[in-house]
Amino acid sequence: MQLDVNFVRSQFPAFQTAGLQGQAFFENAGGSYTCGQVIDRLTRFYTERKVQPYAPYPVSELAGAEMDEARARLAAMMGVDADEVSFGPSTSANTFVLAQALRRMIADKGGAVVVTNQDHEANSGVWRRLAQDGVELREWRIDPQTGHLDLDDLAALLADGRVQMVCFPHCSNVVAEVNPVAEICAMARAAGAYTCVDGVSYAPHGFPDMAALGADIYLFLAYKTYGPHQGIMVIRREVGAALPAQCHYFNEGVLYKRFTPAGPDHAQIAACAGMADYIDALYAHHAPDKGAAGMAGPLARNNAVHDLMRAHEVALLQPLLDHLGQRNDLRLIGPRDAGARAPTVAVALDRAAEPVARALAAHGIMAGGGDFYAVRALEGMGIDPGAGVLRLSFVHYTTADEVTRLRTALDAVL
Ligand SMILES: Cc1ncc(COP(=O)(O)O)c(C=O)c1O
Repeated sequence: MQLDVNFVRSQFPAFQTAGLQGQAFFENAGGSYTCGQVIDRLTRFYTERKVQPYAPYPVSELAGAEMDEARARLAAMMGVDADEVSFGPSTSANTFVLAQALRRMIADKGGAVVVTNQDHEANSGVWRRLAQDGVELREWRIDPQTGHLDLDDLAALLADGRVQMVCFPHCSNVVAEVNPVAEICAMARAAGAYTCVDGVSYAPHGFPDMAALGADIYLFLAYKTYGPHQGIMVIRREVGAALPAQCHYFNEGVLYKRFTPAGPDHAQIAACAGMADYIDALYAHHAPDKGAAGMAGPLARNNAVHDLMRAHEVALLQPLLDHLGQRNDLRLIGPRDAGARAPTVAVALDRAAEPVARALAAHGIMAGGGDFYAVRALEGMGIDPGAGVLRLSFVHYTTADEVTRLRTALDAVL
């Protein structure tokens, strides 16, 4: 079964707006379009339920129920319990809170933290700052040519058993290689360390199956997964209970509140259920014979949709990689095998990237140039963050025709 991209696009109001006609979107790694299901729920919440939730009057009960529904449905899709899913304003804010939680714990044990120089700064700087409290930092460094993270290097960093936390990306927002999360998490666990995985760059290509990945903490952003501007944290029960809570003391007994110091954004959390509606709509469209009664469970539906999305993206990505790989006026970052990476294609040029992105805009291509807050990764590959990289990122709603237009525009501009 192939992804029906026309059906997919019919779920996104953006594709029907006049201002976006003729514009091919290639900055999805910055933030995706929002699916109609999310927009409908957000509109409904703001128009019909915008009251303090969980109070004993009907509208408030509905508001609270919609927030609970979002947590429960996303959790079921990922194969975790509802209270293992919590929300925060952004990934940087979420890691900030997590690092606060781990700060004393690791320092008191004389422990160490592993960070990479492949990560976006969100899963790097806050952990590095723990050094101010006496935590030992160990940097898992990328290969300067390829941007690849080698498992043997990690094994050496874990060898003495003092590492308490390993922070790494599911895939980097500039290198895009899909890291072997399950293997890394197994190595960390065997060495007595927790794992904090930045899934922001991967989740738009398929929501995680948490048991398969084995991560203790998995972070991603709803605004890049077709939803509202929310950071999502999956924190496994054992870890969430072990880390010191960062919330109001009287909320410590509720797992999903433990790492949310502020009052949550009610409407946006409620609207996140629309992401689950969208995945279910994709599943139902592509498996119509199943009918409501025969629908697979939420995790199986999620995994089936993940595979559909990935197959479509990989088919579009390989010709683009082949095309860019033939040019001698640019450096293609990350693997050349589409199956080994996300469709987030960064290229270093012989000039600053931002003006090139601007020139592409004149051809109806929406792309970006810069460091994308992956300054350490660019420096680790010998790329001047000031010049930055041109980033061409797409997702499952992108068409083969748009990729062809991108190639033509690139040839004209470069
Ligand atoms: C891979 C990755 N991680 C983390 C973030 C941080 O996002 P936020 O701005 O929500 O902190 C981003 C944002 O672009 C990202 O691409």
